[in-house]
Parts: sequence; C-alpha cells; structure tokens
Amino acid sequence: MRGIVFTLLVDMLEEQQGLAFLNSVLAEADLPSGGAYTSGGNYELSELNEILSCLERRLEIPVEFLLRNYGEYMLLRLAIMFPGFFEVDNLKTFLLSIDRRIHVELRKLYPDSSLPSFNYQDRGENGLTIDYRSSKKLCFLAEGLIEGAAKHFNSECSLIHSTCMHRGDDNCTFELEFYERTE
Ligand code: HEM
Repeated sequence: MRGIVFTLLVDMLEEQQGLAFLNSVLAEADLPSGGAYTSGGNYELSELNEILSCLERRLEIPVEFLLRNYGEYMLLRLAIMFPGFFEVDNLKTFLLSIDRRIHVELRKLYPDSSLPSFNYQDRGENGLTIDYRSSKKLCFLAEGLIEGAAKHFNSECSLIHSTCMHRGDDNCTFELEFYERTE
C-alpha cells in the first residue's frame, strides 16, 4: 500500500489527537516499518490494520467509523495535492472519473500501486451506483472518500452501502442519490 495512505493518516492523527497520542499509538502498534512512513514508500496493509485496531482500542471508536473519518480527511488533502483531478463540473462527474481517469493515471505513475476497481451504473441525473472491488476490502475508506468529495464539491448526496464484502458479498455496492442538479 502506497506511503501516502500512511503519511496522511499520521498527519490527521497529529492534527486531531496531538503528537503525544500519535507517537504512543505508533509505539504500541506492531509495525515492521517502525512507523516511519514516507509518501514514496510502500507498506503492508497489515500495518494500516494494526494502527486502526490500536486506535479502535484507545478511542473506543469502531474501525469502520475511523476509516470513514480518515477517507474524508484523505480526500480533502488529495484535492490540495492533485488539483488537476478536481477540475470537473460536479460530484457525479468526479466520481465517474476515479476509475476511468484518476486511478488509471496513478497506475501509470506508480505501477506497483494496487488500486481498487469500480463499476458504475448511471441511474440518470441524480443517481449513481458504484460497485467496489478490492482484495483490501477498504469499503469504509471509500465511503469516507465519497463523503469528502461531496464536501469538496459543496454537494449533498446520500449513500446506501447495500452489499458488502465484509458480509460475504462478492463486492460492495454504494447507491448514491444527489440532491442538486448535476449538469
Ligand atoms: C471519491 C474518490 C475516491 C475513492 C472512492 C477512492 C477509493 C480508494 C480506495 C478504497 C483505496 C484503497 C485501496 C483499495 O481499496 O484497494 C484507494 C487507494 C488509493 N487512491 Fe483512491 N479513491 C478516490 C480518489 C482518489 C484521488 C482523488 C486520488 C489521488 C489523486 C486517489 C489516490 C489513491 C492512492 C494513491 C491510493 C493508494 C494506492 C496503493 O496503496 O497502492 N484516490 N482509493
């Protein structure tokens, strides 16, 4: 998993919980890297899961809430780091561009990335269904990223996570409704 996923998580924890808390989590978690992350590095998914379990214990917040919160933070930071990807008219166009453009470009830049795949079902102006597939099963991170994108585009959208790999389904399904004109 690319280092940026870890460096942004570390930034969020420092901002939201303080440096002392962050350092104690990194010391307590079992991290082969020692918790010294760089955005160009690559780290095991198990390190992310280890940090999340440690946070779940310490903060008494379930991992799925932690991942949603992090996804939202991550998206707003990505918007600052990669403004070109956000030069689209609206939230729906942006969401359609993740699999068709953003993650495609990232695969070219970083061939060792392991990015999720999305299938889209366009349900007209105000509806979009996204199927998410990834061996990483980070669907709650994806939910947070979508919520962050809605904030970025100053849009309202509802999300129903109607099938889930964590409940034994083949993929996760996000059924989105947009509450504004998307054209
Ligand atoms: C709503 C928008 C987005 C969603 C739902 C989304 C979803 C995800 C998810 C769920 C992952 C975790 C890996 C996996 O599940 O296999 C991921 C990884 C990643 N995404 Fe996206 N993404 C979004 C937008 C973006 C944007 C705008 C960028 C950068 C410009 C980006 C860059 C990355 C990177 C660098 C990784 C890590 C890849 C790796 O570990 O090798 N994503 N994305």
